[in-house]
Parts: sequence; C-alpha cells; structure tokens
Amino acid sequence: MSGAGSDTVSGPILVVDFGAQYAQLIARRVREAHVYSKIVPHTATAAELMADKPAGIILSGGPKSVNESPAPTIDPAIYDTGIPILGICYGAQLLTQQLGGVVARTGRGEYGRTPLTLTGASPLFPDWPGDAEVWMSHGDAITEVPEGFSATATCPDAPVAALHNAERGIYGVQFHPEVVHTERGSELFERFLYDVCHCPPSWTHTSIIESQVEAVRAQVGSSPVLCALSGGVDSAVAAALVHKAIGDQLTCVYVDTGLMRANESEQVEETFRRQFHIDLVHVKAADRFFESLSGVTDPEAKRKIIGELFIRIFEEVARDLVIEEEGSGNAPGGDEPSGYLVQGTLYPDVIESGSDSAATIKSHHNVGGLPDDLAFDLVEPLRLLFKDEVRAVGEELGLPQDIVWRQPFPGPGLAVRIVGEVTPERAEILRAADAIVVEEVRRAGLYRELWQSFAVLPAVRTVGVMGDGRTYAYPIVIRAVTSDDAMTADWARLPYDLLERLSSRIINEVEGVNRVALDITSKPPGTIEWE
Ligand code: XMP
Repeated sequence: MSGAGSDTVSGPILVVDFGAQYAQLIARRVREAHVYSKIVPHTATAAELMADKPAGIILSGGPKSVNESPAPTIDPAIYDTGIPILGICYGAQLLTQQLGGVVARTGRGEYGRTPLTLTGASPLFPDWPGDAEVWMSHGDAITEVPEGFSATATCPDAPVAALHNAERGIYGVQFHPEVVHTERGSELFERFLYDVCHCPPSWTHTSIIESQVEAVRAQVGSSPVLCALSGGVDSAVAAALVHKAIGDQLTCVYVDTGLMRANESEQVEETFRRQFHIDLVHVKAADRFFESLSGVTDPEAKRKIIGELFIRIFEEVARDLVIEEEGSGNAPGGDEPSGYLVQGTLYPDVIESGSDSAATIKSHHNVGGLPDDLAFDLVEPLRLLFKDEVRAVGEELGLPQDIVWRQPFPGPGLAVRIVGEVTPERAEILRAADAIVVEEVRRAGLYRELWQSFAVLPAVRTVGVMGDGRTYAYPIVIRAVTSDDAMTADWARLPYDLLERLSSRIINEVEGVNRVALDITSKPPGTIEWE
C-alpha cells in the first residue's frame, strides 16, 4: 500500500504493543475499517515511529499497571509530533500519567460489561446515546486529566472513562473499543481513523491483492519460483496469489506424507492442477514416511523424523526442477537449487518473532516448515496479513470454500494425533474417524465456529462387545476446541446429539474402533494436539 502519493493512500496506523494480545485485536479492527495498521514495540523511539510516516498512533492496553515499577512506557516525544494519538485502557492511563494527569490505585477495578455515561462532546463518539455499554478491564483509574484535556465520559468505577485534547490530537478511552462487547466500538475506531487521522478507507482485499501481485513481480523478475503446498489455507492462498502474479513461472510441490486428512490430496490436485492450471508436482511419499516412522513412539522423535524427511524430499524435487530449468537455459547456475520459494508466513508470525513484548510461539510449530539454509530467497506475499484477511483474499482469488475455511492442521499431520507407533493401518483408522468428525461437525453447522475439531487415536485398546462377540480394539477420542489464536483454548461444548452421532458412526463405520471418548481439557493445561 505504499507508493502513489494520491489521496487514496495514507501512512499506516501504528499500534503500540504493551503486551498481552490487545494490540493484535486493535490492529485487526483498524484493518476492518480498511486502514492499514502495523504493530510496533513500545520500546521504539518517537523518531523510529515517525520514520513510518504514520497517519495515527494507537497505544494498546496491557497487563501491567502504570503505577508498577517497572511498567512499560513510550517515548514521550510522540506527544509533540502532531500525529493523532489514541490511548486505549493502559494506553489511556499511560498518556494521562506522562502528560501530568493522575492515575490512582482506587482499589475498585471494573471487569466486563459496564454502562458508560457521556459527560461531554467528543469527536470519537459524536452521535452516541447518553448511555452505552462498554467493556472494561482495569484495576487503576484515571482520576485527574492532564492540563488542557477534557473528560468526556464516566463509568461507575472509572471517574474518567474518556478524555481528549482535540487541539493536540490526543485521545484516550478507558474501555476497550476493540472487543465485540463494546457497543459501537468499531464506530469509535472509524471516527478516529476517518475524522481525526483523515485516513481514506483504501485497505481492501482487492488493493491487497493488487499491491502483492506487483510486489511479487518486482521481487522475482523472470526467475523460477517454488511453493510447497500443504493443503492448508496459508500455503494455498500464497500459491494462488503468486500464480496470479507470475503464472507458469510458479511450480507447486505437494508432498503426500500419508499423514494427510481424508481427500486432501485429491482436493489439492483438483484445485491447483485442474481449476488454477498450476504446474503441480505431487510427490507420493507415504511409504518413505511410514518406513522412517516404523517403531518410533516418542512424540518429539516423530516430529523430527517427519520434518527432516519432508525437507529431504522437497530438496530432491527442487534440485530436479532446477536442473530441468537449467537445461532450458532459464535458471541461474550452481549445484544447489536456486531461485525463489513461496512461504505462507502471516503477520502474527512476523510480530511474534520481531517484538519483545508479545508472547512467543512454540518453536515446534516450525516442524514441517523448511530450513533457513535452503538456497532460496523467500517470497512471503501474506506477511502483512492476519488470518481473516488471508481467508478473504483466498475467497477473492476464487479458492474453494473448503480450502479457505479449513481448520488449522499441524505440519506433521495425523502423526501427532496417533499416540504410539504410526503405521499405515493406524493412520487409516484415524483418517476414517477424522473424516466422520469433520463431516458431522460441518453438518451441525459448527465447523467454522470451532477452532479445530478432529479425532485422536490413543495407543491403548479396550474391551467391548459387538453382536455376540467380545472385541479388543482402539478408542477414538474426539477433540474439539474454541480459540482465537491457539495460544489458549477451551474445550467445545458439543451438543449431545452430535456426540451421539459421532459415537455411533465411528464405531459402526471404522473397523478397529470399539469406543469413543471426549477430551474435555482446556489449554492450558492441555495442548490442542495430543503430541
Ligand atoms: P498445541 O498442540 O501446541 O497446538 O496446542 C497449537 C496449534 O498449533 C498447531 N500445531 C502445529 N502446526 N506444525 C504446525 O504447523 C506443528 O508441528 C504443529 N503442532 C501443533 C495445532 O494444530 C494448533 O492449531
């Protein structure tokens, strides 16, 4: 979204991260209002922030109290830049304190839905009713506004729930407009973005695609580009986007590890080869994976074996392709593969590795990814995007709903859901049970609502009775969770009639299973996957 200095383009809104997940939610809300936002660490200096030529700055909430020591702060020089600033919760308290107001430990916090009473006019809520419901989460409270500021709203336990100095372009709200429980929260963002910061609503899915298509073309020129397709949303959207940019310069590689979900391979073939006419190399490597996994039961060992074999296979394919290209005189020389590799890196991954205050994601999530020392330059067309934007872009590019709305699936595939040894037979049992879970969850209309819903195959067998005979077979465990980001998750309260259908279908249709159980563990303390 950079470039042409027309009035349809503005600098980004910078969202200053003070910890927890508030900043990401705020950044997403800003983008939902079609304005580009970027998350930055609170340790950035005013000069560093200004280098981005921001249209506005939002100070996020955070888990600390401004009265704690140490508490995260922001370079106070930002208040003199003339760039509009909106502080939210912790951000509002911080700017109050830094500009000479008072944030007191009142001993009376507010958590949850709270009635807000307007006490003065504000450009942030010009047409709100006198009373509105807002979402609060604070221990301290602003009790005195800084000089030159006016208080414009109050709540039962927040004497100053909103304040501003319009001349200086500085605004603060104690409540959280980014959460859905705040009525008219998105309108508040729109007023700040459109009226205070004068941002045009130009960050749209079409504009994202256009700018990324241009960026990919500029980056890769006429070089060959490879993409490892996993069957998941991110690599699929990245591939479709890069294909739109450079057509048959792109080759996609899909490695069937034998640990994929039911019909996944067929769907990848159908979509990419037949619908998009993308050059697709489909490597059928199930035998190699099962052979390497034979006798292995340790979860970490499994992940390592799968990750390493995946890379070896990908390298073999890449080398063959480059040799072919060289034969046709199109590729650079050398023994190692060279050229470009598409990766479906998303914005949250970029923030998590770049910011010191965001929680760090587990390193094991890179299993199934590719190592840094492959001789490729990376093409990352999704690195500015949140997951919901990736899905919207995927829909706009014409990818099928089934792919665009697919629940996350771990890199090592079904292996981390098969406790104990991974054999072709056990993978088949799990795949069949999993397909039933997915089908029934979809039929119940719950598939998109759930973060993940799948089957797990434990390493025990139990006794049962079917017809006249005693059985001794595996149980299947149903795992279904709700979550926003996989960092925490709650077990899903699936309706009893759905559970009943799952139980009876899995036992009747999947040979080798005689019992169905439900995992009712949240994360923490459990993880979403079983291994
Ligand atoms: P856990 O089990 O740690 O999983 O609660 C959190 C989220 O990450 C996914 N996951 C993986 N994704 N490679 C991936 O690409 C992996 O090795 C991996 N392990 C777990 C998991 O499905 C959940 O969404």
